[in-house]
Amino acid sequence: MCGIVGFSSRSVSACGPLVNGLRRLEYRGYDSAGVALASERDIRVFKRTGKVAELDRLLNAELPENERSTYTLGIAHTRWATHGLPTEVNAHPHVADGGNLALVHNGIIENYAALRAKLEARGCVFVSQTDTEVLAQLVATFDRGDLLSAVSQALKQVEGTYGIAVISRRHPGEMVVARKGSPLVIGVGENATIVASDVSAIVSHTRQVIYLKDGDVARVLPEGVDVFTLDNVPVSREMQEVEWDAGAAEKGGFEHFMLKEIFEQPETLRNTIRGRLDRVDGTSVLAGLNLPPRDLASIRRAVIIGCGTSLHAAMVGKYLFESLADLPTSPEQAAEFRYCNPIIGPSDWAVAVSQSGETADTLAAVRESIGKGALVSAICNVVGSTIAREAGRGVYLHAGPEISVASTKAFTSQVTVLLMMALKLGRTRRLSREEGLRLCEEIGGLPDKVGEVLKENDRIAAIAAKYAEAEDMFFLGRGILYPTALEGALKVKEISYVHAEGYQAAELKHGPIALLGEHTPVVALLNDIPGKEKTIGNVQECRARRAPVVGVVTAGDDDAARHCNDVIVVPRTSAACAPIVTAVALQLFAYHLARIRGCEIDQPRNLAKSVTVE
Ligand code: F6R
Repeated sequence: MCGIVGFSSRSVSACGPLVNGLRRLEYRGYDSAGVALASERDIRVFKRTGKVAELDRLLNAELPENERSTYTLGIAHTRWATHGLPTEVNAHPHVADGGNLALVHNGIIENYAALRAKLEARGCVFVSQTDTEVLAQLVATFDRGDLLSAVSQALKQVEGTYGIAVISRRHPGEMVVARKGSPLVIGVGENATIVASDVSAIVSHTRQVIYLKDGDVARVLPEGVDVFTLDNVPVSREMQEVEWDAGAAEKGGFEHFMLKEIFEQPETLRNTIRGRLDRVDGTSVLAGLNLPPRDLASIRRAVIIGCGTSLHAAMVGKYLFESLADLPTSPEQAAEFRYCNPIIGPSDWAVAVSQSGETADTLAAVRESIGKGALVSAICNVVGSTIAREAGRGVYLHAGPEISVASTKAFTSQVTVLLMMALKLGRTRRLSREEGLRLCEEIGGLPDKVGEVLKENDRIAAIAAKYAEAEDMFFLGRGILYPTALEGALKVKEISYVHAEGYQAAELKHGPIALLGEHTPVVALLNDIPGKEKTIGNVQECRARRAPVVGVVTAGDDDAARHCNDVIVVPRTSAACAPIVTAVALQLFAYHLARIRGCEIDQPRNLAKSVTVE
């Protein structure tokens, strides 16, 4: 949510790296963008509403190539509006001290109104409606010759979350950055230091990075970084090497990141599974969980917490934990969980699921669970993310960077990790070695099964074309496929703006069936697993109301197919693996629907990838 980049060098112009960095972070927000460039003489600020491409056009028009080389320090921002409309005035960077100081911010300053009133009483004049401008003015009031100390003093007055980068004409060559609750990574290269909200904006410069911790403030120079606490105590932060390279964050010949990420899934699942199946004892090896069988066996209840797509994975997790390990499990929407004073304690296991590892509500739920003495684990994709670090134990997805705003490959990897967790749990409770070995075999075969779904791409595109004019759709699933129905509907809503609802197959007739008619397609998940016959009954109810039915059907299952107007074929799997192959089919369906409707697939309106506000 909002992307920040900072660049500091002695010899290289900051302009290109900042704009390129913003392009990489555009998935975090894209309603306006801006850059502040510093030379020995001045700071120049350029802002535009709309996408980074607009900002780039402005820079090309107003900053000739020969002038750019003098600006070797700069900060930049791409915005997802929280306070104030997405206008040029509200776009970052915000300036203070008569334009001498510039600041970019990701997060929310909760006490900004009180701070603003105090500053106004002292004569500060504000031009925007943002909380960020308040922070910029506050830092300027503390500047007595040491920028780092001014930032620290200002931040001590702030309630809320922030990832910030600040430059000032009074402190040439220096950038100060800080974080609390919003991610910030520093890449240390040979000729430059680059700061960003996530590593995708850094890897084209260097793979050597430092992840700041909450409460850190750092002085960034072209030669490197010094990190302190807000009380000015130096702290050391380990340099780490990023696993993937710049190529992983490119479209690789696909028209959209979303399509690339859908097609990557055989590979991403292989990476998720690699080295984690024990085909001798029929269990899984999840070292990061750090829970010996004795601890696993003593867990009385699990809660699996997430938002959006990750919540849907959590809901699948409930079926897996209960059916494979007899462990009572409840999926929890993170914001609801954190504010309901949850009953959770030392015999409970809280599992937080988050692709980004930065979602504010999920992080708060993790803290709540830790505070109440529960055992806490995380399932994250982004290595070193806040949730991964605070949970302390967990399992990484290893799915590589997910750039498309609509989550795809993260979902299938999340479900696969939950499946491997269920296998491990199950083996400490009730699964026999033989059952465990069968499950290992199935999990190991998932990448190829997903590959088979991808071969259906053209057929799925043709079916999507038939329904591309629909304005309402229903997705029906039963049992373990119900969360997948929700996920299919979410994908359609997000990227094609078609109103789509996921329902338990049996629930439709308790009200929503009133909406069905010939213009309301129903996507029914009819995989050949227990419960299918009942769902076929629900399909008949839909057809009796003239609703056209697209069935997701197991290959060769003519019995299910004959009840549908159109059929998307998926390979045969057990119930435990059915959500994975089915989700991939629905991702393709949603993708083609959006493409045919001419929607902006990778950056849908109003959305942002990483939701770091409550
Ligand atoms: C949907 C989507 C969102 C995220 C949600 C949680 O396609 O991407 O619903 O799943 O914002 O994000 P993470 O998993 O990063 O916590």
